[in-house]
Amino acid sequence: MKQPKVLIVGSINMDMIFYGPHGDEMKPNGCLNFDSIGYYCGGKGANQAMAAAKLGAEAYLVSAVGSDENGRKIRELLRGGNVHLDFISVLDDVQTGLSGIFMMKDGSYIGTNIRGANDRIMPEMVEHALDAEAFDMVLMQMEMPLETVYRTYELATERKIPVILDAGPAMKIPLERLRGIFMVSPNEAETEALTGIAVKDEETALEAAKFIREHACAKYVLLKLGGKGSYLYDGKKGSLYPACKVNFVDTTGAGDTFTTALMIRLCNEDGMETAIRYATAAAGICVSRRGGISSIPDREEIELQIKNMSDQKGEQDEEFKG
Ligand code: ATP
Ligand code: RIB
Repeated sequence: MKQPKVLIVGSINMDMIFYGPHGDEMKPNGCLNFDSIGYYCGGKGANQAMAAAKLGAEAYLVSAVGSDENGRKIRELLRGGNVHLDFISVLDDVQTGLSGIFMMKDGSYIGTNIRGANDRIMPEMVEHALDAEAFDMVLMQMEMPLETVYRTYELATERKIPVILDAGPAMKIPLERLRGIFMVSPNEAETEALTGIAVKDEETALEAAKFIREHACAKYVLLKLGGKGSYLYDGKKGSLYPACKVNFVDTTGAGDTFTTALMIRLCNEDGMETAIRYATAAAGICVSRRGGISSIPDREEIELQIKNMSDQKGEQDEEFKG
């Protein structure tokens, strides 16, 4: 099988993840005690590029870092993971992106970002990459200027390359700017920001997915619903794909691993359902470990997880079905 060549357009951050209390212990003006902190290379673009390379693709990342220690460390890690760095700008007058993530024991989290160099990921950088190589798919997120998001879509579409938008972080955007996109994939908070609909059950999942599909004219909408799994809408019907049962530790990068694994399997000509099961297995492993990049599984681990999932088959989340 041909090795897929994919372009990721998105952020690079140094993540500081605080591990601690339950979400309901959070009170305004109060002080929370956390158990520990971990420093991890991350950012949605870096997580996805590493995941793509680890899952067998030739991965290129368009991004930007400062000429500082964090930027150096992350580029070193990406290089070691076989991600092509040719389209990553190193800038002297701005710092590498930073993210502070407060990861609660119940799986909820608060993310805080200093976008830094990510605000300088420009459309020309994307154009340069698309002119230099022939890509099978483009995956992007929104932790960068929105003009770059819209322009990436236009540039890829001109070249007939399917685009997936991983719609994080949560914000309302004019989906019409992405008319005809191959797939939009938001998590629960991002879905609510895009549609105004809080997903509580299959009915509200369908309502939100329809909204996105109508406004973006997307071929597919794939909602990521944390521990409840994912929900695909293809314009005809909606289907829920339950998450695998794992010991949850840290969700950082779960969405990135999920969407990237899905893209790689689609590039390898898997059907949508098979690709979603593969992505579910990959993300399930990711949430059972700490950090983003550090928790991306390899292909052998995913195959093993898929076997475990078939054993769990049938035990769906009845509560969500409403
Ligand atoms: P992040 O922004 O941290 O990368 P996300 O919020 O975009 O993640 P989620 O919806 O949390 O994405 O998770 C993506 C996928 O990961 C889910 O669709 C599911 O398959 C898997 N997943 C998430 N949480 C759990 C969990 N607690 N147990 C098993 N699988 C999970
Ligand atoms: O999607 C997870 C990523 O979002 C983290 O690595 C963090 O950097 C934030 O950008």
